[in-house]
Amino acid sequence: MDVDLLVVHADQLLTLASPAGPKRGAEMADPGLIPDGAVAVEGETIVAVGPTAEIASAHRAPTVLEARGRVVMPGFVDAHTHALFAGFRAEEFELRLRGATYLEILQAGGGIQSTVDATRAAPWELLLRETHGRLENMLAHGTTTAEVKTGYALEKEGELRLLRAILALDRDPHQALDLVPTFLAAHAVPREFRDDPEGYVQQVVEEMLPAAAALWEEETAGEERPAPLFCDVFCDQGAFNLGQSRRILERARSLGMGLKLHADEFVPLGGTALAVELGATSADHLVCTPEEELQALAASSTIAVSLPGTPFGLGQPHYTPARKILEAGGALALATDLNPGTCYCESMPLIIALACRTMRLTPAEAVAAATINAAYAVGWGKRVGSLEVGKQADLLILDLPDYRHLAYRFGANPVEVVIKRGQVALLR
Ligand code: NIG
Ligand code: FE
Repeated sequence: MDVDLLVVHADQLLTLASPAGPKRGAEMADPGLIPDGAVAVEGETIVAVGPTAEIASAHRAPTVLEARGRVVMPGFVDAHTHALFAGFRAEEFELRLRGATYLEILQAGGGIQSTVDATRAAPWELLLRETHGRLENMLAHGTTTAEVKTGYALEKEGELRLLRAILALDRDPHQALDLVPTFLAAHAVPREFRDDPEGYVQQVVEEMLPAAAALWEEETAGEERPAPLFCDVFCDQGAFNLGQSRRILERARSLGMGLKLHADEFVPLGGTALAVELGATSADHLVCTPEEELQALAASSTIAVSLPGTPFGLGQPHYTPARKILEAGGALALATDLNPGTCYCESMPLIIALACRTMRLTPAEAVAAATINAAYAVGWGKRVGSLEVGKQADLLILDLPDYRHLAYRFGANPVEVVIKRGQVALLR
């Protein structure tokens, strides 16, 4: 059979195959390793995966990539990012090193609000150019699909502009990643509503969410997208309380949006139980989640998204109790949380290295969390996240002799080739 591309002789080919849904609990330990593996690609799609001896004899292609001494695996899915912003917060980083806390800075009107000021003021071209640079960095580190949130405008027209910016970047032919947008108007209470947070929530519910849903409908009419537009809320002390989070998410659900929630990053407010009750696609952060809520999450279809770069970025010692989630049979995903405040990190390999050390995941579990489970956490699990026939051909060739080196060795970039939708998107 003639195909467009063959990748052959990978020392280790990881399929991460999981046809029935995300990998749960003990299933995460099996990366679907094929020794001396190969993949055949036709157009944007994987048409065969298996041992090189089988695949190479049954297929011919004009382009054949040799992966001897290397690992081949699906591209990373970064399931939680705030990649769209302007300005930086290095001074805030230094203030924290001197003892200020993230919540103190947020409550004093710094933190998210300072990025809001910079993002509101940023011209369209600048905002897109700076974000594009970060997306290129993500691609260079093997990310092929990323969720991107709005949330640094906090007023109707500005939040809609950010949603348009994510769609524009997604469609930019010079930008390879697939982007999955999330509407996060409820990221913080903006300065203008400091004394009237309920007034802001009312505006989100009555004006911003319907406008975002309408914009999405209009912009994506006729497009075949695996997931709806997501809505997210930062449910925490200093941001939105449980009742406010519920009102926002219930309204979003009634508008056909998918649901996500920043839950239990700093103070447990009941967000994880709310995410489970509302059937959210994911609950994210989960640093201080109470035991019963953790068990309910693990038993539910809501994916637990852990962001170990964030406590690391904040220099804090507490991480998601990931082993408990796996022991209870939950589905765990990993993401960077890329943002200018708590975690300015574009690298999924670094997140994997952190996850293994801080949460005692095995390399195989961390890889499943960063690929197939992350794909399900953004609603793209049937399209990306594993090397299976019929799935989109998003794959990596890593200059590593063994996939465990992804976690074991850290700080250097192992990505040699990125193939995105069947095309070589990066070659180093
Ligand atoms: O996930 N927690 C809320 N949002 C981000 C931080 C955003 C910021 O500080 O700009 C987070 O950690
Ligand atoms: Fe976040």
